[in-house]
Amino acid sequence: MAIEAADTAALHPETRLVHAGTLRSQFGETSEALFLTQGHVYDSAEQCEARFLNKDPGFQYARFSNPSVTMLEQRMAAFEGAEACRATATGMAAVTAALSSLVRAGDHVVAARALFGSCRYIVEDHLPRYGVQSTLVDGTNLDAWRAAIRPNTKAFFLESPANPTLEVIDIAAVAAIAREAGAKLIVDNVFATPLFQRPLELGADLVAYSATKHIDGQGRCMGGLVLGSKELIEGDIQTFLRQTGPAMSPFNAWVMLKALETLPLRIRRQAESATAVAAWLKGRKELPHVAFIGDPDHPQAEIIARQMSGPSTLIAFEVAGGKDAAFRFLNKLKLIRISNNLGDAKSLIVHPATTTHQRFTPEVRASMGVSDGLIRLSIGLEHADDLIADLKQALTA
Ligand SMILES: Cc1ncc(COP(=O)(O)O)c(C=O)c1O
Repeated sequence: MAIEAADTAALHPETRLVHAGTLRSQFGETSEALFLTQGHVYDSAEQCEARFLNKDPGFQYARFSNPSVTMLEQRMAAFEGAEACRATATGMAAVTAALSSLVRAGDHVVAARALFGSCRYIVEDHLPRYGVQSTLVDGTNLDAWRAAIRPNTKAFFLESPANPTLEVIDIAAVAAIAREAGAKLIVDNVFATPLFQRPLELGADLVAYSATKHIDGQGRCMGGLVLGSKELIEGDIQTFLRQTGPAMSPFNAWVMLKALETLPLRIRRQAESATAVAAWLKGRKELPHVAFIGDPDHPQAEIIARQMSGPSTLIAFEVAGGKDAAFRFLNKLKLIRISNNLGDAKSLIVHPATTTHQRFTPEVRASMGVSDGLIRLSIGLEHADDLIADLKQALTA
């Protein structure tokens, strides 16, 4: 009596997030069950053999598959419009699996330079250890992507909007360049959220998420998701995950599965508040720079209008006076808490230059747009007026 993803394809996205992928047990539970089990028993040695030969459908061992994890994967695939999805222990495990599965020693990767610190580590430090060279480019410059292509380029990787600057890249244009070069494009869609940007429809081959962020949305569990064609996901990515082991725990999958039911409500509300907070911040003369996806003055506003249907829940702004002024401001906040996480029900704020992007030299940080006065604010589910009041008292203190 399972409702498979295909059954919900004609329904609205919100409906898919409530029903798609549900696997009901013989008890007919309304709320999806948490299958907190490492393994499964078989009726016979023959059935066990057939399961391992993929001739008998069913589950074997939670490193490869688990009913609660499968429900999350099927529901996300149905929402994203992807043929397949795999869940991982963290967002970084999803990015690492996506990139590692596309390349071999001797291959080459091109990536946008404005990346979350750990994503840039995978491209710049980790892959080269195994003989995969990489080139970092200004992701907003299409000629730079073209110029970086080599005969052995197999993958393009980008984050849009980028963490923390909210720089936006034309995904459809980069996807076309990748296709022409015979390379696969991976998009880290964390900042956009699955609600506001659909990279597969824009031509990307794989989409990766830190489900730790908006998908959990309440600061509880770590997780990652990678989505794309059956060929890519059920081929090298599945083999990589099965054999190397960064599996999502069934408990985390169950939390995230239930969180998907409220994802559109939460994100729309957070985005509405972010719009109000960004407008207020933009009017403050002590802030030389405010970046927000919904701002008509955003440098890539024309691309945003084409490829995003909402403004994200993040704001980046600069305080005059560098690190000292930024720290003074952060320390005065009362309601908005200092934390490096984002996409939470609680509004969270961070100083990227000393945290997420701390391991880079000042020159590299500058090339990524991460100045000493830059602050990243993730808007939660509190009332926007309370957030503005907190920001106001901290700015004027
Ligand atoms: C854009 C982006 N990608 C990937 C990650 C990594 O996710 P996780 O912390 O779940 O490994 C993060 C985390 O902050 C992120 O912001």
